[in-house]
This record gives sequence, C-alpha cells and structure tokens, in this order.
Amino acid sequence: LPLQVLEGASLLEQELEKRLGIKQVVIVKGNADQDEEVKKRLGMACASMLGGLLRDNLSIAITGGTTIAKMVEFMPRQHGNYKNLMVMPARGSVGGRAEFQANTVAVELAKKIGAQYELFTLPDNLSSSSIELIKQEPTIQKVLHKLTETDMIIFGIGSAMKMARRRNEPSEVIEKLESKKAVAEAFRHYFDTEGNIVYASQAIGVSPAIAKQIPLRLAIAGGESKASALLATRELIEGGYLIIDESVAQEIIKKL
Ligand code: BG6
Repeated sequence: LPLQVLEGASLLEQELEKRLGIKQVVIVKGNADQDEEVKKRLGMACASMLGGLLRDNLSIAITGGTTIAKMVEFMPRQHGNYKNLMVMPARGSVGGRAEFQANTVAVELAKKIGAQYELFTLPDNLSSSSIELIKQEPTIQKVLHKLTETDMIIFGIGSAMKMARRRNEPSEVIEKLESKKAVAEAFRHYFDTEGNIVYASQAIGVSPAIAKQIPLRLAIAGGESKASALLATRELIEGGYLIIDESVAQEIIKKL
C-alpha cells in the first residue's frame, strides 16, 4: 500500500509507544480536522496494520465511524485465506448514514477479506427499558457472549460533543456532558480528561470494560481535536495498536 507516513515519525512513534504503553503506534502525515485526505492515509495505514495481524479463525469486532469506514475502503481484496474468520459489529447502529455504521463496515470488511460475518441489527438508541428487555433474548445473549469472547476489536475514538450531536443525544445529556467536561466518546461511553466515564448510554454491545479484556485492540483517530479524547481513553489503547495523524501525535506529546 502507498503509505504516506510522516517522514522521521519513527522517533515520535517510539516515544508515544513508550509513554502510553502501546505495542505499536503509526503516525500519518497531516491533520484530519483540516484535510479529508488525511482520513484516507489513516485508513490505508490501519488497513496495512490489520493486514499484518489477520489470521484465519480469528473473531473480530468492529465499530463504525468515518475513519474506520476509510480503513475498510482501503483494505485490499483478498480471498481464500480467511474463510473461518468472523467479523461482527461491536454495537448496534446509530442511524443516519448507513455507510459509516458498524453493521455496514463489518459486512464490507468481511467481503473484502473473504471472511464470515454476523450482523447485529439492533438500533443503538433504544430506551433503557427496551434494552433491558431485549438483553434477555437468547439470541442477543448469544451475540453478547460472542462479543466478549472476540479476539480483536477495531475501534474509532471520537470527540465527546461531536459524537453526542451525531448520535442525537437529548439536550439534557448534552448539558450533562458539557457540565462534566466530557472530551471523549468510545463505545457509547463519554469520558472526561481524567478518563472517568461521565455518561454512558444504555446500549447492547462491546463496552469499554469488555474492550479492555479483548486481546488485540486496534484504535484509529485523527485530527488534533481528538488528542484529549485519546488521552482520556488511553486505558483502552494500552497494550494495543494505534493509528493517528501527526496533529494528534504532536498534541499528545505536549500534554503528556
Ligand atoms: C466510531 C465509534 O467507530 O467512531 C465511536 O463507534 C467513535 O465510538 C467514532 O467516537 C469516531 O468517528 P469518526 O467518524 O470521527 O471516525
């Protein structure tokens, strides 16, 4: 893949690996907040990293998001080697643009690599009482169990307020997030700069607690606005793989 990584980035990559306790950091050139091209680079870098980690028989959970969708777009088509690999969406769907939803990216990724997939066709924004009820369903229990046993999680990390708006959170939630100074969103949980969960919407699927137990973790985030989001969710990335852009990397190193 024509990877446009940042020249001379390896020192910064190593520094971040050391300071954040991450297995491997890849930094691509630019700032995704200002330049859409950077998302493509993030996608390519993530596809290439994932390519190196793929093995048949793995089970992989994946979230949605625009950056993850780019990764799937740049995943080269390959067939034959991953017939027993299983791709699953980490959570239900947010609504809105289908191409960025976890279900869609899971199917697309599975098709690209010739793997199996299992869908999770639940809306990600049901009321707590409906969720409690649905959770009792044996088929849902089965999916949840599979998600906790998964070998790899590929996930995006978002800025709290941006994700709250994308998810159409009600105004009282938005106010709560503002007053609690939420900076990050991952797995439908919102975090403050210290990494405390300040709000979590009831939903079914991989939670931060489940994600931490998954052996292979691959996170992707770009745009300097996500630097504090990344630091707030560093526990999720510890021991895993991280793909970021130059602007996030520079901001993080300043804050560390
Ligand atoms: C999604 C995750 O994959 O990506 C969210 O489910 C995350 O938790 C979001 O916040 C980030 O989206 P984007 O579009 O900025 O890559």
